[in-house]
Amino acid sequence: MTSPAWDPQQYNRFERQRDRAVIDLLAQLPRDLDPHEVWDIGCGTGRHAALLKRRWPGARVHGLDSSAAMLEQARSLPDAVDWVLGDLQMWEPEAPVDLILANASLQWASDHANLFRRLAAVLAPGGVLAVQMPMAWETRHHALMRQTAADGPWRARLKGVDTIQPLLAAEGYYDAVADLCEDVDIWSTTYLHVLEGEDAVLEWMKGTALRPYLTALCEDSAILDAFLMRLGQVLGQAFPKRPEGRTLLPFPRLFLLARRRSDVGEGSRQGR
Ligand SMILES: C[S@@+](CC[C@H](N)C(=O)[O-])C[C@H]1O[C@@H](n2cnc3c(N)ncnc32)[C@H](O)[C@@H]1O
Repeated sequence: MTSPAWDPQQYNRFERQRDRAVIDLLAQLPRDLDPHEVWDIGCGTGRHAALLKRRWPGARVHGLDSSAAMLEQARSLPDAVDWVLGDLQMWEPEAPVDLILANASLQWASDHANLFRRLAAVLAPGGVLAVQMPMAWETRHHALMRQTAADGPWRARLKGVDTIQPLLAAEGYYDAVADLCEDVDIWSTTYLHVLEGEDAVLEWMKGTALRPYLTALCEDSAILDAFLMRLGQVLGQAFPKRPEGRTLLPFPRLFLLARRRSDVGEGSRQGR
């Protein structure tokens, strides 16, 4: 799948809600982890890579993203992070990695069984893979987005546009990393995001899942506006504002932590 055009301001509008999951993920990192090489892949606007640099100032921290717009924002951070424009599906680090963070990015990538195996393979012995992905396909708001895209004058232009696909079952991720890793910990949880503002679910989706549709319709503003208006109505009915004015969005997410075994070949620390 090709990553669509991103809008850092729109994405960061719901920063507090979006950050909750990565904080929960990072809280589970092994206490004895003392990384030298750290990569945040699909780092977006770079705030989590910067956080990792502050946590381990002696480590070489890299942030990889395929969006120049997201990286431009990342580069404005004061932290000494190596920002890299590139595709995580083609990524081959020069040195074995002690910590790979992939927060809300791998759902845009394809062939997860191979991808996760490859990520486990570039870890140094004892290195950790830490992933969080939205389980978005199954959610009501994604179903409504797909239905609306398939029904209206925009239909022909949106047909075949890739948006987030279903994840593997949790067992599929376990199988992908189990022979290279130990301490494989996979869990899921549903957050009830409390969103402020008008058309809150639509605005949330404009930051992420709707990006491919917005990109596909960007040259016809009349059709784009009509599509967004219809989707806003549909989402507004499905997710009505509560009496005090906020909107509730249930959002399930899948987490994976896996630690590279010390007794399997690739990713040796020699030569550092
Ligand atoms: C939802 S944002 C998450 C950003 C950041 N990890 C965070 O948690 O704030 C997804 C990010 O993944 C990046 N991305 C998607 N596919 C990618 C790919 N194939 N290679 C590199 N980055 C990718 C996008 O450009 C975007 O910045």
